[in-house]
Amino acid sequence: MTGGTDPQPELFGNPEQRAVLRKGLAMHALTRHLPDATYYGRGVGILRPDPAGLELLRSLVTLQGVANIYDVPEGQRQTVVAELEDQGYSLTRYANWLSGADTLTVARRIVDEIPLPEDVTVTVTDAGTAHTTLAGLADVSLSVGVMPIAGPILRGTLKPGVGVVALDRDGRAVSCAAAASFAHPGNTEFGGLAWWGMLATRSDRGGQGLALILGATAMLAMAERFGVTRFFTGVQQGNIASEKVCGRCGLAPVENAILTVVDASALEGGKLTK
Ligand SMILES: CC(C)(COP(=O)(O)OP(=O)(O)OC[C@H]1O[C@@H](n2cnc3c(N)ncnc32)[C@H](O)[C@@H]1OP(=O)(O)O)[C@@H](O)C(=O)NCCC(=O)NCCS
Repeated sequence: MTGGTDPQPELFGNPEQRAVLRKGLAMHALTRHLPDATYYGRGVGILRPDPAGLELLRSLVTLQGVANIYDVPEGQRQTVVAELEDQGYSLTRYANWLSGADTLTVARRIVDEIPLPEDVTVTVTDAGTAHTTLAGLADVSLSVGVMPIAGPILRGTLKPGVGVVALDRDGRAVSCAAAASFAHPGNTEFGGLAWWGMLATRSDRGGQGLALILGATAMLAMAERFGVTRFFTGVQQGNIASEKVCGRCGLAPVENAILTVVDASALEGGKLTK
């Protein structure tokens, strides 16, 4: 796997989004040895809001414009949010949905039992995937307001990661999903946990089971290619469709929240993605 210092990495989105992704890749190259740093293809984040973590977080937000805290205990959330908002940051809270012991069995059942629409083929991306296919995947994601992760992560060339894309018979990408490793592999608690998400389906293909099939395929591919068996995703309150898909894929919410911290002047709207 290469070092993340490619001067022209494969990135998608508008110039502002690509700049955020480029900084994230560069930051990962600098922080990949840190046991508490996280990265799945957007920005580098931290695991917990302890004093050392929050100090790292402030540097990350200054340099990247954005960073997240993975595991914020309910009892600490208000204090952490108040402290960071006082410092001028814009925060978004996501519920943390985690996989369970039977999630891969659920995923296998989805892929075996839900029929794929007749005109659709599914591709799991890797080093050899055509750039146009990856661009199509990213385009679906962008079309519903979800920020695509960096290309080297979708291809699994920089760290374990996969993209999944459904193409119709005209070669148009209609749905996508992705997953990637997250914490330092040596971290005993979180090293085996992967981020999962970027679920998106074009509205004219909604309700055909594509998010379920592609989401399940992403988990199965991470297990087959990289031996990863534990997954999480962040769901924003009120995203009923996302909650439904996550629940059907065998994930369930836990109490601790994920916080995304943005330097509002670096990113329009103060938010990175849905
Ligand atoms: C959420 C999203 C990915 C669902 O895609 P999809 O391909 O239409 O989903 P599926 O057909 O696989 O449906 C999966 C389940 O979710 C349910 N579902 C889908 N959209 C729903 C909605 N808007 N409201 C409630 N339930 C919904 C389906 O009924 C189905 O459950 P069921 O089989 O028990 O009936 C799609 O609506 C989307 O792109 N939304 C915008 C982006 C987003 O919010 N992504 C999630 C954040 S990562």
